[in-house]
Amino acid sequence: AQCLVGSEMCIRDRSLIYIIEKDNKMKKKITATVLSQKEIAPRIFDMWIATELAACAKAGQFIGVYPKDRSTLLPRPISICQVNDKKDALRIVYRIAGQGTAEFSSYQEGDSVEILGTLGNGFPTEAAEGKKVFLMGGGIGIPPMLELARELPASTEKQIIVGYRDDQLFLKEDLEKNGTVYIATEDGSVGTKGNVMNAIEANHLQADVIFACGPMPMLRAIKKYAEEKKIKAYISLEEHMACGVGACLGCVVKTKEVDHHSHVHNARICTDGPVFDAEEVEI
Ligand code: FES
Repeated sequence: AQCLVGSEMCIRDRSLIYIIEKDNKMKKKITATVLSQKEIAPRIFDMWIATELAACAKAGQFIGVYPKDRSTLLPRPISICQVNDKKDALRIVYRIAGQGTAEFSSYQEGDSVEILGTLGNGFPTEAAEGKKVFLMGGGIGIPPMLELARELPASTEKQIIVGYRDDQLFLKEDLEKNGTVYIATEDGSVGTKGNVMNAIEANHLQADVIFACGPMPMLRAIKKYAEEKKIKAYISLEEHMACGVGACLGCVVKTKEVDHHSHVHNARICTDGPVFDAEEVEI
């Protein structure tokens, strides 16, 4: 049987669904196995999944995770936080945001989970070669910064600037193994009081390139900062996705240039992104 998901084509056989993009890259829907799961901050969960998809995963990409509750056929997009060294397992760190993610949080070691991936373009790590870089994560935009810090070239000077609500500093130790970490908290309990922009100012930090993921106000501030300083910023808009597979059109963002395919000033975050050059999107 064949079906259309957005502009992509799905071909189903008995056990797999392959989604073939225009550029013929394949994405696989597979059944994977949960290796471990724990709550690392209130309503924030850390799950390792054994999967062959890890072999081709990169920082800034995400996977679609399917709830077993079939009231919706659409997966939940969740960013990749880490790929293990053997490249046979993925780590996802996610916040409970609804029924689907609440269900995922109940999974335990040995449970099976259906996932689709890997999805999205990922961060252009080559842009950081020999550069001084900010890796900026806010809230649930922090997890992709871990794999990014691991993948950036050895010649990159990594300043990891992360913004939390309070002293629940999930992933802090992992980030510290991969760069110099600066913390901002909304309640001022740790680091700079305020947001990631306040932390840059308080610590007199500078960069040639920025990579960022987080809520829209943070990304807007980063876009403005990068324009003023005339530096490149690559921002991941992944918090603004719904289905993650091009089917719901809930993730459209305005772009500066017209799309060569549809000839409109629009892009779908899930299929054209989630990472964009900040200059190219109107947010
Ligand atoms: Fe559904 Fe992009 S089309 S999130």
